[in-house]
Amino acid sequence: MSTAHLAGLLREQASGCLPVSPLTHALLTGAAADLDSGGVCAGLLADELGATAGSVPGLRLAAALHRLVLERAAPRLALHYPSVGGSARPERLWADAAQVLVEHAEQVRTRLAATAVQTNEVGRSAPLWGGLQVAGQRAGVPGVRLLEVGASGGLNLRPDRIGYLVDGEVLGDPGSALRLDTGWTGRPPADLDVPLRVVHRAGCDVHPVDVSTADGRLHLGSFVWPDDTARWERLRAALTLAAAEPVAVQPLSGPDFLLRELARPHPGELTVVWHSVVWQYVSPADRRRGRDVLARAAAAATAEAPLALLVLEPVRTGGGFRFELRLQVWPAAPEVAVLGHGSGHGTPFTWA
Ligand SMILES: C[S@@+](CC[C@H](N)C(=O)[O-])C[C@H]1O[C@@H](n2cnc3c(N)ncnc32)[C@H](O)[C@@H]1O
Repeated sequence: MSTAHLAGLLREQASGCLPVSPLTHALLTGAAADLDSGGVCAGLLADELGATAGSVPGLRLAAALHRLVLERAAPRLALHYPSVGGSARPERLWADAAQVLVEHAEQVRTRLAATAVQTNEVGRSAPLWGGLQVAGQRAGVPGVRLLEVGASGGLNLRPDRIGYLVDGEVLGDPGSALRLDTGWTGRPPADLDVPLRVVHRAGCDVHPVDVSTADGRLHLGSFVWPDDTARWERLRAALTLAAAEPVAVQPLSGPDFLLRELARPHPGELTVVWHSVVWQYVSPADRRRGRDVLARAAAAATAEAPLALLVLEPVRTGGGFRFELRLQVWPAAPEVAVLGHGSGHGTPFTWA
């Protein structure tokens, strides 16, 4: 990839941040212009010339800067960051950011190389919750074994512990510390008054984040856009739920995790394999192995021990992406059903 191509990628990622995060938009636009003119980004991003669009180098750069702000290592830049009490001043932002990149070049380079994008966006629990209701009712068994591939910090493993605001009504757990404004158009094709019962929850990730540590919480926080206050509040509440009911995310790749978790049937329970915004990061070898493991488990699924695959993943459309929620249930409904589509952060969402 040429420098010009990488700058184009940064601009594309910048436009994807609007209208939610003018700050990240300004940052990535500044970085793209800096790259064009051979500034500090030309050296810092030299190793990113081989990066794929799916590895989102712009968001990793923004996260490296945000992390320095959250660690109180960049006080002047922090004045722009609402996540630490600042207020964005777009006209000075890039100059202050570039200064931080010069002063902390080694740290930023190391972080860029070491991290994949790990948003762990808990807004995705809203379509997950709706999709689980549909899956459970299609499969006709009451308890769900929830298995998440690419779980990051595991914040989406508690969809049954969240309150969901739908048309002025709170569904799910109304007493929860976390209430998601679903922004739903339409509703899932299921009876939403039936309580969702999760009997087992487990997740894996090749880079698991331990949210019981300050480092893990800082890591996840760094990927939240600093001026998206609603997401900040969501993350804080999700961390509270995680502390009350910890689930350690296993340090395994998807296929190894599924081999273990799908090794034997669980009669009377619906096993659901779930992943959101993971597929673009998975290596071709892991994709192939994952599909094989799942195909074998699907072939062995029965009405007493059914299996479902529920995913929220981006699909390319004309000029951009849309995030589709897709469901397959074996043996009841094996064909792919597109349940709806929405934003990459799970809300708002339109049910089909
Ligand atoms: C963008 S994050 C999404 C995290 C979470 N699913 C969510 O929706 O908030 C993608 C995650 O996939 C993980 N990942 C990538 N390849 C993987 C693989 N082969 N097996 C398991 N996890 C993987 C990454 O480490 C990262 O945590």
